[in-house]
Amino acid sequence: MRLFTYLLLFLLPFSLSYSQDVTIPIETENTVMVLKTDHNNRLKIIYFGKSLSNIDEYKQTGDVFNFQDEGASSNNSAYAVAGIDNNFIEPAIAVIHTDGNNSLDLLYESHTATQTDDGATLTTITLKDPVYPFFVDLLYKTWNENDVIEQWTVIRHTEKGKVVLNKYASANLYLNNTDYYLTSYNGSWAKEMQPEETHLRQGMHTIESRLGTRANLLTSPNFMLSLDGKATETSGTIMMGQIAWNGNFSLQFETDMYKNLHVVAGINPYQSAYHLDPNTPFETPRFIYTLSFEGKGKGSRNLHDWLRDHILLDGHGDRLTLLNNWEATYFDFDQDKLVSLFGGAKELGVDMFLLDDGWFANKYPRNGDTAGLGDWEVNRKKLPDGVPFLVREAEKEGVKFGIWIEPEMVNPKSELYEKHPDWVIKEEKRPEIYFRNQLVLDLANPEVQEFVFEVVDDLFTENPTLAFIKWDCNAPIFNGHSKYLEREKIPQSHLYVAYSKGLQNVLERIRTKYPTVPMMLCSGGGGRSDYNLLKYFTEFWLSDNTDPLERVFMQWNYSYYYPAIAMCNHVTDWSKDKSLKYRIDVASMGKLGFDIRANELSEQDMRFAQQTIVNYDDFKEIIWHGEMYRLANPYEKDLASLMYVNEQKTEGVMFNYLTNWRYLAETSLRPILLQGLDKNKTYRLTEINLYDGAYTPINDQKVYSGEFLMNVGFNPSVNSSRSSVIIKIESIE
Ligand code: DGJ
Repeated sequence: MRLFTYLLLFLLPFSLSYSQDVTIPIETENTVMVLKTDHNNRLKIIYFGKSLSNIDEYKQTGDVFNFQDEGASSNNSAYAVAGIDNNFIEPAIAVIHTDGNNSLDLLYESHTATQTDDGATLTTITLKDPVYPFFVDLLYKTWNENDVIEQWTVIRHTEKGKVVLNKYASANLYLNNTDYYLTSYNGSWAKEMQPEETHLRQGMHTIESRLGTRANLLTSPNFMLSLDGKATETSGTIMMGQIAWNGNFSLQFETDMYKNLHVVAGINPYQSAYHLDPNTPFETPRFIYTLSFEGKGKGSRNLHDWLRDHILLDGHGDRLTLLNNWEATYFDFDQDKLVSLFGGAKELGVDMFLLDDGWFANKYPRNGDTAGLGDWEVNRKKLPDGVPFLVREAEKEGVKFGIWIEPEMVNPKSELYEKHPDWVIKEEKRPEIYFRNQLVLDLANPEVQEFVFEVVDDLFTENPTLAFIKWDCNAPIFNGHSKYLEREKIPQSHLYVAYSKGLQNVLERIRTKYPTVPMMLCSGGGGRSDYNLLKYFTEFWLSDNTDPLERVFMQWNYSYYYPAIAMCNHVTDWSKDKSLKYRIDVASMGKLGFDIRANELSEQDMRFAQQTIVNYDDFKEIIWHGEMYRLANPYEKDLASLMYVNEQKTEGVMFNYLTNWRYLAETSLRPILLQGLDKNKTYRLTEINLYDGAYTPINDQKVYSGEFLMNVGFNPSVNSSRSSVIIKIESIE
């Protein structure tokens, strides 16, 4: 009823040429951002926090923060501009008008709120320059139940010529809390998602990427902001989110002299001045965030649910367990060797065999990473009967077949490069710079978009039952220059944006024609995992680092932002010093795969692996579609513990991993408090994935109330001889 009244209020569009007291609450179930016009008709953010039951009170929220309308206290603009003299903070937008004037003022013009078909509320606020026909629409798509907000802008004008956008952020926020702890993530190959906490006190802190393609290799677009002191898993106020853009991004956190925090998020303006034609709206990427008043766990569950419900392709569907040949063979394989591996996939009991890099190119065969990339014909020497033969042979063994591609890239030693040097991003006046011996194709060019689409389309046309694609992307953009943009007389500063949009065009086409085939987003390890690309992918590759101990930490960090169903974890020989059990147990907390020489497993290991896959098939529904709770933090304790519970709270799985093998590691001294159960239900806890009938101290005849497990806890008895422990939780009513 309340929502109805509220919508009714908003459905009446306001159109104002004079100053009026307009208050616009951007609300979810538990949170609100209140926007309000000042006496000059400029839109301000006056409150960001818990929602109130009486919406009439929103208009006075700003009063208690002592905001003033003019001078330096204009820091709370809803979208800070560059070039007018009452704005001293980091702008969200900076433009040069057709007459060369570089000032911008944005006044409130109108707003509407509508219900979207997918069940969200979309508030659109139009701001306009009083002098120039230049407009910015601020958009807020709110997901009530998830407490998730998608925020972005549409920039447009009707000036006579092009307006240069030097900066064009998606979102501008202003928080008036008392303390800000920012967690951001840096990384590099095999070291993705390493958290750093910064106490923001004064000045600017920026998280950004300039890599162009594999945008989050060195810096992740995810962030976590503890407000009013440090949040824990179950308590405190935390904002968590991401700028959902597959290209260069920038997240700016500016603490001002009032100790308020100004956030500007969007495409990185680095080398990216955009020349915008009249009547051609430019839509910026979405800045996604949730605000939780019950700690990080709730924040994660908000994002997981939202991602599965609305973004991730087939977020509520199934996934395929698989055997990948990358670490098992690298480039060294032929038809017979591959076919012999299919038997291993069948014996293990996985759903699919995934053929990795090295299957293509003839003039410059892809026998290593120095040649052949771009030449997507099957290598006739290695695979004389082609991919269709492999698909058939795999299917004869009862396993599906998937394939690796890296269609955005080219080796200079390739026929593609010889034929189409102008399809390659490079600065002709300067030496070529390679990353993994390769260059990036110019996806700004529609011909190149067509080529990339055809790589996928040809594979499916030739192999209609192809079950999976692993889409890799190993090089960043160096010396960014596009021959296509040059020919079309489009400024080179459009390249980064045009590349990202070009890639998106291709993926749109692929998904229109092949809407459901599972695809893994991979980028030389974990260089891509943004919510924007995850619209087209069912899962992503976290890192080439599959050492299970490293993975415990990495998966922990990724788990803040992504549900287990999206995260591909493979069991490999990267770190053979860890037991097969530890490796499988860690990989089971996500989408399980294997990248091992299955035929070389001992009989005992094979039996164990088979049993774990049966167990995984039994509990995968819970971790893929249930709710996740982080119980013990490996950065604080000598173990990590996480659990998943189904919606009815009748079944769960608890994963426990030792992270410190010291004799003094204090892992089993204290119980772990479970979460997410029904306190009135009675549960039985059974240890699973026991290696070859190993002894377990866990007595599955005992039962516990949910209340007991959540308040007194349970001790999984993790120690160096039981370094990983998986517990199945079942209610016994
Ligand atoms: C990088 C990926 O991360 C690996 O899994 C593998 O597919 C190689 N590329 C193949 O070149």
